[in-house]
Amino acid sequence: MPLTQHRTTLTQFLIEERRRFPDASGDFNSLILNVALACKSIARAVAFGALGGVLGNAGGAGGAGGATASINVQGETQKKLDVMSNDAFLHITEWGGQLAGMASEEMEDPYQIPSHFPKGKYLLVFDPLDGSSNIDVNVAVGSIFSVLRAPEGVETVCEKDFLQPGRQQVAAGYAIYGPATMLVLTVGTGVNGFTLDPNLGEFILTHANLQIPPDTNEFAINSSNSRFWEEPIKRYVDECLAGKSGIRDKDFNMRWIASMVAEAHRIFMRGGVFMYPRDCKDLNKPGRLRLLYEANPIAFLMEQAGGKASTGRQAISGVQPGSLHQRIGLIFGSRNEVDRIESYHLAPQACELPNPLFNQRSLFRGSN
Ligand code: AHG
Ligand code: MN
Ligand code: MN
Repeated sequence: MPLTQHRTTLTQFLIEERRRFPDASGDFNSLILNVALACKSIARAVAFGALGGVLGNAGGAGGAGGATASINVQGETQKKLDVMSNDAFLHITEWGGQLAGMASEEMEDPYQIPSHFPKGKYLLVFDPLDGSSNIDVNVAVGSIFSVLRAPEGVETVCEKDFLQPGRQQVAAGYAIYGPATMLVLTVGTGVNGFTLDPNLGEFILTHANLQIPPDTNEFAINSSNSRFWEEPIKRYVDECLAGKSGIRDKDFNMRWIASMVAEAHRIFMRGGVFMYPRDCKDLNKPGRLRLLYEANPIAFLMEQAGGKASTGRQAISGVQPGSLHQRIGLIFGSRNEVDRIESYHLAPQACELPNPLFNQRSLFRGSN
């Protein structure tokens, strides 16, 4: 890139945004820049792959923690990079005086800011590495974060301080570590995408004011779970699969990367719909993905780009969280498809009547 070609850095973008709020202290910008630095450090670790000795499970043979693999609060085996990414988020943001506390997929309880650092008015909630089952196969992974306000005067954070519905988020974003590293951010005034310039080590604004097309012919779901799906999802997917010969009268494409960040990013770039719905695979887990650090930030970004995010029954942004690591059914993407899937959930017949009514030649063909 020629030096004369002016490009907006993330720093410039944040400073210009802040000028619209003359009373702002600058704390928020410092926090976002530290989050961006954490993402850059994770991007470097990911990029070295096997050369960096960062692949594989944490703990376990060859790991730092002894002979047994380490398991997180989700009951999932932690990868080395899950642990390293969690540490990067904690230690690159904890010192700045902007945070009252943090919560992470990888930590059972909220993280307290060490007492030798000043505390601030924000809470940071994150999935330090999303899609980590993909690390060892060199497929895109990412980090997801959400910024909330801490309750007034809080000294030691506790779980309930974080249990805020998604619509109360101050900012949200993700970094994707793919062929290029990108940071996609909303501060509540639209969605902007920044690409990491590896020469400068700076995020540069490359995708201003992202907008998700309202219609799509691409959907993403892990169909190995189809036998556990509820009727509205079965109906929607069946109709997509029927393509031109069904009521949708168009052919659909299917994708499944198993990195939600990568699926969300594809949807920001060209539309689509993603579903990890509530199902009956494990009745203790109402959904696979987590509300506070996966669903809420992605939902905020989607809505800010003209898309939608829903449980199937209500907007994600209106859900009152009940616990830090709560899971939830999540459907997001192009607005008209999410509306259609919601309408299938809300139509009582669709869930409760026996299957024959929803066959190709049923009464309900063409009614939605
Ligand atoms: P994480 O790696 O943070 O635990 O999240 C993984 C999530 C998400 O990224 C992806 O959409 C989903 O798990 C993949 O699920 P399947 O293994 O069912 O494909
Ligand atoms: Mn995740
Ligand atoms: Mn994760």
